[in-house]
Amino acid sequence: MKLITKTTIACALVLSMSAVNADTAKSEKHAKKATELRQSVFSLLGSNMGPLGGMAKGKIEFNEKAIKKHARRINQLSHMIADYTRTDTSSFKTKTDALDKVWKQRAEFKKRIKDLNQSSKNLLMVAESGDQSAIKKAIGGVGKTCGGCHDNFKKD
Ligand code: HEC
Repeated sequence: MKLITKTTIACALVLSMSAVNADTAKSEKHAKKATELRQSVFSLLGSNMGPLGGMAKGKIEFNEKAIKKHARRINQLSHMIADYTRTDTSSFKTKTDALDKVWKQRAEFKKRIKDLNQSSKNLLMVAESGDQSAIKKAIGGVGKTCGGCHDNFKKD
C-alpha cells in the first residue's frame, strides 16, 4: 500500500512537470498527430494574416470591422501556440518545418509568442482609432512578429 502511494505521487509529479516543460512524443503516431495540430494553428494564423496583409498593401479594400476580427483571432490563436507546440516531435520523422530549437530553446520561443500576443493586441487597439496609416503600421508590426519567430524557429 505504501509503495503504491509513493509510485502514485511520483507519477503525479512527473505528469505535472511535463505540463510545464516540453513533452516528448511517445510514438510515431503521436508525433504525427501533434505535428498536424501544431501546423493547424499556424495555418489558421496564416489565413487570418493574409487579408490583413492584403489591406495593408491596398490590394484588398480596407475594412476596419474585418481588421478587428482578424486581429482578435490572431490574438486568440497566439494563446494556443504554447500548448500546440509543447509536444517535442523532433525524434520522429514527420513532415515539418519546425526546427528542433522550438523545444530546446523554450524560453526564447515563448518570448516570440508573447511578441505576437502583444502586436496583435496593439493592432486591435489601433484599429479602434480608424487612422488608416496607423492601422497599416500596426499590421506591419504583427507581420514582423510572425517573421521574427520564423527566422529563428522555422526552416526557410
Ligand atoms: C512563436 C513562433 C511563431 C510565431 C509567433 C509564428 N509562427 Fe508561423 N510557424 C512557426 C513554426 C515553428 C512553424 C513550422 C510548423 C511545422 O511545420 O511544424 C510555422 C509555420 C507556419 C505556417 C505553415 C503552416 C503549415 O501548414 O505547415 C504558416 C502559414 C505560418 N507559420 C504563418 C504564421 C503567421 C501569419 C504568423 C503571425 C501572425 C506566425 N506564423 C507566427 C513559428 C511561429
